[in-house]
Amino acid sequence: MRKLLCVVMLTVAGVVGAAAQTYPTKPVTIIVPFAAGGPSDAMSRILGERMKATLGQSFLVENVTGAAGSIGVGRAVRAAPDGYTISFGHLGTHVANAAIYPLQYDMLTDLEPVALLPSNPMVVVSRNSLPAKNLQELIAWLRANQAAAGTAGAGSGSHIAGVYLQSLTGLRFQYVPYRGTAPALTDLIAGQIDIIVDQASNSMQQIRAGHIRAYAITDSKRLAAAPDIPTAEEAGLPGFHMTLWAGFWVPKGTPKDIVAKLNGAVVEALGDPAVKQRLNDLGLEIPPRDRLTPEALGAWHKAEAAKWWPIIKSANIKPE
Ligand code: MLT
Repeated sequence: MRKLLCVVMLTVAGVVGAAAQTYPTKPVTIIVPFAAGGPSDAMSRILGERMKATLGQSFLVENVTGAAGSIGVGRAVRAAPDGYTISFGHLGTHVANAAIYPLQYDMLTDLEPVALLPSNPMVVVSRNSLPAKNLQELIAWLRANQAAAGTAGAGSGSHIAGVYLQSLTGLRFQYVPYRGTAPALTDLIAGQIDIIVDQASNSMQQIRAGHIRAYAITDSKRLAAAPDIPTAEEAGLPGFHMTLWAGFWVPKGTPKDIVAKLNGAVVEALGDPAVKQRLNDLGLEIPPRDRLTPEALGAWHKAEAAKWWPIIKSANIKPE
């Protein structure tokens, strides 16, 4: 019996090993847990396109939306651990949601880290018809219009950023949840919502085109892609710092060789000058090379959960 078990185990190991050697032999799906056209979708498509050049197969984005991204992440957790499903996520989906939503999976143990991806500073933006011309005027306007004013977003990232702005200013305003920040931005441009504390890469083109107004970047330095926008410090709101880091994960049990191949393709993509240019133009910040290993993402993910979960729980943020 023991001999038979050994033979079965060796055969399974051999099949997995062979699969890892030839991987990938068919297209790989990246599950983006937000609507098409938004910042998560854009980053996944830019990277997937370049990863195809390394690994020879297409990387197809599937937008699985709902519950601040937890529906899409749950789908990835339940997928076969064979390297053909990748979970895209960020501080909101892969950290904050666990402190807000009752989840059917364990964020830290049901997924294997692949690589840290570029991070996205947030930018405070408003509809153009709002009269405020700078952050101080915006805060005064929000104070005078608290009952009716509303911010919007899709993930727990923009939600936390809005709550953070409220706690720093002592304001209270409504939060309207969307399936993605792309549709939220469309409604901001149309004047249906007042402000978004948005990921810079989502708003950048609309700011440049003059369709929305930008007040401050939640980073300690100005963005090279938008040097006219002041930092929160410069605009008079010190301490308003928040950057939405992102990552790729795969289902738990995915063979290490496959994780290594995916990691190598991400590293190559992020080192490609054309890709770098596209990401930088969107205001995204590329992590240094030593932070791009699966182990570095695993350690960072745990540290961020330890940092944010108590803060989010004490803020008593409710599911939207
Ligand atoms: C999106 O792609 O729509 C965003 O990442 C959602 C969000 O986190 O606010």
